[in-house]
Amino acid sequence: VRAHGKQKEGGEQMKQTISKPFLKAQGARILSELNDLKRTVDSCAEELDWDKAEIQRIILGEAPAERTQSFIKRISTFYPIDSAELTLLEGDCMQGVKFMRVAQSRESARVFDRGNKHGEKTPYYEYRDTAMSCLSAFRPEWIKELRIVNDNNPENPDVAYNNGHFMHQVTFFVGPVNFYYEVNGVKHCVEMMTGDSNYITPFWPHSFTSRSAQDEAYIIAVTFGGDVKRALNELYRYGRERSSSFLINGRNPAQGVQDLLDFHLRNELLTRELLQQKLTRQGHAIDVIDRSATWSLEQLEILATALNIEASDLNVSPYRPDEEVVIQKGADEPGYLFPNMSAPHYHIYPGARCRRMPQVKAFNIHVVPSDRPTDPDLSSALHTYIYNYGQVPVQFAWRFENRIYEDTLHPGDSAYVQPFIAYQFRSDAEQACVFTVAIPGALHPGAQKELSAFASFDRVIEESECWFNA
Ligand SMILES: [Fe+2]
Repeated sequence: VRAHGKQKEGGEQMKQTISKPFLKAQGARILSELNDLKRTVDSCAEELDWDKAEIQRIILGEAPAERTQSFIKRISTFYPIDSAELTLLEGDCMQGVKFMRVAQSRESARVFDRGNKHGEKTPYYEYRDTAMSCLSAFRPEWIKELRIVNDNNPENPDVAYNNGHFMHQVTFFVGPVNFYYEVNGVKHCVEMMTGDSNYITPFWPHSFTSRSAQDEAYIIAVTFGGDVKRALNELYRYGRERSSSFLINGRNPAQGVQDLLDFHLRNELLTRELLQQKLTRQGHAIDVIDRSATWSLEQLEILATALNIEASDLNVSPYRPDEEVVIQKGADEPGYLFPNMSAPHYHIYPGARCRRMPQVKAFNIHVVPSDRPTDPDLSSALHTYIYNYGQVPVQFAWRFENRIYEDTLHPGDSAYVQPFIAYQFRSDAEQACVFTVAIPGALHPGAQKELSAFASFDRVIEESECWFNA
């Protein structure tokens, strides 16, 4: 059974059937969990009172999907494991990509009212969904500003700020949109236009209005979760007090380093006094009792060695107040030609960047008109969201398992592309342009380094062996 369907008329994607490679991967994942539990197929069959031959078929991906699901349920009731973590998501993509057409987006439209200066609730935003996949943490919306203002006063009583939200936000602006935000009780307003973008740190209040009753004014608000979203279930489980023990003072880096030292001391079952004695015994003149001390790189290396961690584990990046909310004006960004000046495919303008979120990459991409052949030339380790904000269609090609697929992104169409799926935009028309935002998945740099150090990579994703030689 092939999981690969065709795009139906109107862009709606056909429902996938469970594919053989998927069942094989699910089977291997189950075997890896049994290995972790130090169970063999024999011992597991006996403990769970499950047919041994069927467990073999499940592990090889040769059993029906329903039987595999029942087995996962059985395993997770018998052994202390989370069935959700053991269950692979086949997902909602076709050949690594998911589209949402402008017509589908329009169908999802809903208008939200907010109070105006007279205290009346009147239409403020029209929201429309754009491409979203269960395989990524994007929740991007097309949002039209329905409240018209005639100034850039951040205290304008017609502007309704929200309370901020848990998701990070990268916003791309189209038309005369005012962007409002409040940081530490101070309100700001910035006049934005097509090609501008921003980044908003979770929970800072913000709002958007239009400066024109005639011109179209909308934003693509790309909200997304990061590592914290992935850890959210743990935070809920621990509750407020215990969860807050994870915090360090990132807005005061000297204090943040002290917080990190406490954090690692605690995990190593040491106190500052015990560490001080150890350092003194070793002949190091470093004061770890005084919480106002700052340490040189060399001293941090000694502290890290004493705690069996890396010096970088005690490192806190400089605090950048201008990265609470980042404003990126398109006019300030000359961009560059990709892949080179002599035969460019794209003029790429990087959007708002926040160094705290180093893998979040927004781009405004202008497609250089040409009749060049299909050849997916863009690819990254990140999950990518694409929105065609221009007036002309863009030809979109991508490579999946050594085959090339093609489709058209019409104005207002959006798409989600999985990591390492190479893709390409083409157009013979002038002014073909898309906005993209890329975000990391669970394989952040820490996980990347841990994985790369394993003695085998193949066995990570295709476990087919018992962990011992019988
Ligand atoms: Fe928002």
